[in-house]
Amino acid sequence: MTAPTTTGKLFSSLRIGSREARNRVVFAPMSVCYGDEAGQVSDAEVEHYARRARGGAGIVVTENFAISTAGRQMPRQTLVAGEEHLPGLARLASAITAHGALAIVQIVHAGRYAGPWDVYDQARRLAPSAVPFELTPGRIETPAEITDEEIRRSIAEFGRAAELCQRAGFDGVDIHGAQGFLISGFLSPLTNRRTDRWGGSFDNRARFALEVVREVRRRTRPDFLVGMHLISDELVDGGWSIDDAVRLAPLLEDEGVQFLFAIPATFETLRLPANQGLFARRGYGGSASSALAAAVSIPVIANGGLGDPSDAEEVLEHDNVAAVGLARALFADPDWPRKVAAGQPVRHCACSPPICARTQLTGAVCAAWPAPAAERGYFGLDD
Ligand SMILES: Cc1cc2nc3c(=O)[nH]c(=O)nc-3n(C[C@H](O)[C@H](O)[C@H](O)COP(=O)(O)O)c2cc1C
Ligand code: SF4
Repeated sequence: MTAPTTTGKLFSSLRIGSREARNRVVFAPMSVCYGDEAGQVSDAEVEHYARRARGGAGIVVTENFAISTAGRQMPRQTLVAGEEHLPGLARLASAITAHGALAIVQIVHAGRYAGPWDVYDQARRLAPSAVPFELTPGRIETPAEITDEEIRRSIAEFGRAAELCQRAGFDGVDIHGAQGFLISGFLSPLTNRRTDRWGGSFDNRARFALEVVREVRRRTRPDFLVGMHLISDELVDGGWSIDDAVRLAPLLEDEGVQFLFAIPATFETLRLPANQGLFARRGYGGSASSALAAAVSIPVIANGGLGDPSDAEEVLEHDNVAAVGLARALFADPDWPRKVAAGQPVRHCACSPPICARTQLTGAVCAAWPAPAAERGYFGLDD
């Protein structure tokens, strides 16, 4: 990988709401599943995130933590659902902030992807409508249509999760409105076929996302950051489009969202022939992020294939985005920010198909790690 031509913008500070990030490198959420089966934060998880902060990232966003057991997807996904989760979350928040990064939790309801998949048949998978979908290649499932009462409960659970994160000492939350999980399921005209106030028109499909933001804002202080991962394009005919995302973004800002990520596709649409290999494309998230940034005045964090330092610099120089989100690059090399700032080469992230994605169920590992990290199963503070 090439060293950047300039480190001017990437390493300048960034104001978001009431906070200031020391630079514009964001560890983007990456589901590594180091938590335990009860949903508690583990020691490995604390070290994993603290290590990315110590490596110099300005903002560390955790992987998606579930707001309830019904909204959980992975067997070792961390929960943000009650008082019992507070001590672990507090330990995680202080481990990240101690190394100078802003600490943000991504909160999710997995919707139609809820699991865990090994006990799938016992779970009630909630979606706006009972539209069959391909859960894994060749496996068709039909989710249950979420009731009005369950909609209200889910909105309240998003608020509860945000309040717990605030009490734990995090700087903010990142509401997951992408990848086909519950919020983006409501946005899509393909998966939301409702005829009540939660479906049909654009305004009705957007209602759930906006009410979640409203509730999260209601339950948290004004200085607590609230952001969103917004699906930028479903990448399928008749689905949610970039025009829809550009239309929704200012409405989210009006409700109090203070930063946005734009990411494309759902787990199903990523499997379509036209979309295969998307993750391997250089800079694939740049143009959607730029389109969103033109529609709002809050910071937009570009993400998707920007792990080459010169690409990260370029997107900041030439697009109107505020920061660069890196998932795999910082998983492969937690010292990416520190090294790039010093003009040193970084460890390559270059394996296909990604081993990190294939090892998620048991705790993700990386092909690029040095021996101690690979043996231990995570890149901790001692590596
Ligand atoms: C193993 C793996 C897990 C991921 N988990 C999440 C997640 O929990 N939440 C999320 O919004 N995106 C998730 N993503 C998507 C990343 O945040 C990011 O959008 C994607 O990897 C492209 O960025 P990159 O090129 O910097 O890796 C995940 C990606 C990978 C590879
Ligand atoms: S090198 Fe492979 S396993 Fe490591 S982050 Fe990159 S894609 Fe994932």
